Amino acid sequence: MTLTQASAAEVEADVLAVPVVAGGPPDPTLVALGQTVAGFVASGEHSGRIHDVLLIPAPDGMAARRILLYGIGAERDLDGQRLRFAHQEMVRVARAFGHGRIAVLRAGPLHDADVGAVVEGSVAGSWDRRRRSTGDHPAPLEELSLAGFGEARPEAVQLARQLGEATARAREWQNTPENEIGPEQLAEIAGEMAGRLGMDLEVLGAPELAAGGYNLLLGVGAGSEREPRLIRLRHRGGRTGGDNLALVGKGITFDSGGLSLKTAEGMEKMRGDMGGAAAVLAAIEVIAANQLPIDVTAVIAAAENLPGDRAQRPGDVWTSASGKTVEVVNTDAEGRLALADAMTFAVRGGATHIVDLATLTDAVKAALGHAASAGISNHDEFWSLVAAAAETAGDRVWRLPIYPDFRELIQSQSADLKNAYYGEAGVITAGMFIGEFVEGRPWVHLDIASSHWNENPAHRDIPRGPLGAGTRLCYRVAERLAARAEGGLADASR
Ligand code: BES
Ligand code: MN
Ligand code: ZN
Repeated sequence: MTLTQASAAEVEADVLAVPVVAGGPPDPTLVALGQTVAGFVASGEHSGRIHDVLLIPAPDGMAARRILLYGIGAERDLDGQRLRFAHQEMVRVARAFGHGRIAVLRAGPLHDADVGAVVEGSVAGSWDRRRRSTGDHPAPLEELSLAGFGEARPEAVQLARQLGEATARAREWQNTPENEIGPEQLAEIAGEMAGRLGMDLEVLGAPELAAGGYNLLLGVGAGSEREPRLIRLRHRGGRTGGDNLALVGKGITFDSGGLSLKTAEGMEKMRGDMGGAAAVLAAIEVIAANQLPIDVTAVIAAAENLPGDRAQRPGDVWTSASGKTVEVVNTDAEGRLALADAMTFAVRGGATHIVDLATLTDAVKAALGHAASAGISNHDEFWSLVAAAAETAGDRVWRLPIYPDFRELIQSQSADLKNAYYGEAGVITAGMFIGEFVEGRPWVHLDIASSHWNENPAHRDIPRGPLGAGTRLCYRVAERLAARAEGGLADASR
């Protein structure tokens, strides 16, 4: 990962990657590469759309052997998320062609300050989805040179590399098949990280969960031999009495629906139901590695949701760790149950601010598609901080309202709450259920059930597969909260 002052002709790499904008006048940096390259774009043979990635021979006299023209879409549509996705795709294609030494040339609407987005996207693209296939593999990303980003700072590149790697790690965890990763393995991942980075680790297994009254999480995991875990990692970077940010992740390592069984197709991608946990774990690793001056806690509610003779039944009523009673009308609405107890655990652990990330509802796909995570919040100011962090991160969020009218929809006739309501405001009622357990703390809930994984082939601008949604966002929230405590934060780059 190097910032280079070399010119386009001098930079050493397998491929020199050059961004192409859709529409607009010819870009001078492209024109300077000579008629072969510029003519290609001028002729319309490269559209400039995201995912239009074209490999052509480099003109004579260039150190790079190939030029890789990659689209970044129309300039007015460009935001941090699209920019990162475009680079993720660019690197994927370069590697598929066997090229692992890539140089990116700053061109078009890219600014020096975009170097972070370029690196984050490119490094996220270094992940190999088909690691377990026995056939040929794409070339690994060996070298990324950044040419023409004159004013960019090496520290920005270094952090972007960490965030890109964290995104790739979250994608890898999401993609790990459920036969390899259960609640215990999530705790092992956290334990390894704690040891390496000097964080405190607490893991509650079944006996401790019973002692603490975490009956909702126990109920979710009751049908599986692999017992649930409540995992807490603590990074201590703040002053005593300062903010304590809890990042709470849904860690359902496989969701069959339980006795309210899903269809075969519906449970096919349920290995990804720990996408919230993946993001939180990947983020706190970077938070701890950079010693951010704030206390941050990662809380993971880990369980496997299976049917079986010990599984909870639709209609069961349980007392949560908070003392509130819950009627489980649908065992497939398990995420909010697991997270409710995780909220109590976070509050008991001293959280002053809470962000939870969960692959919570199918309904979020109808609301926002794969383009953004849906958010709800009980606190306008904290929401604003999270939204600003999302922009810096290139990790979109969009807020939905909490109307008091909806509370009635999750009212049980036999307990304080019921865990499912069908047919209306599914994203909001699911989030509001979790909100019943935050005890007034400033809180943002992010439903990543659609943003965490894209399998819709109709998309061109959004990559396929697990996306690691929320990873960079969590880091940027911690960074902003830390900066606010210290009085101010400059910057908010694309
Ligand atoms: N894990 C699912 C949500 C999900 C669906 C994630 C599709 C990723 C892709 C969640 O546990 C669930 O099953 N939710 C139910 C809730 C319903 C029963 C109220 C849903 O959305 O159908
Ligand atoms: Mn479910
Ligand atoms: Zn689930």
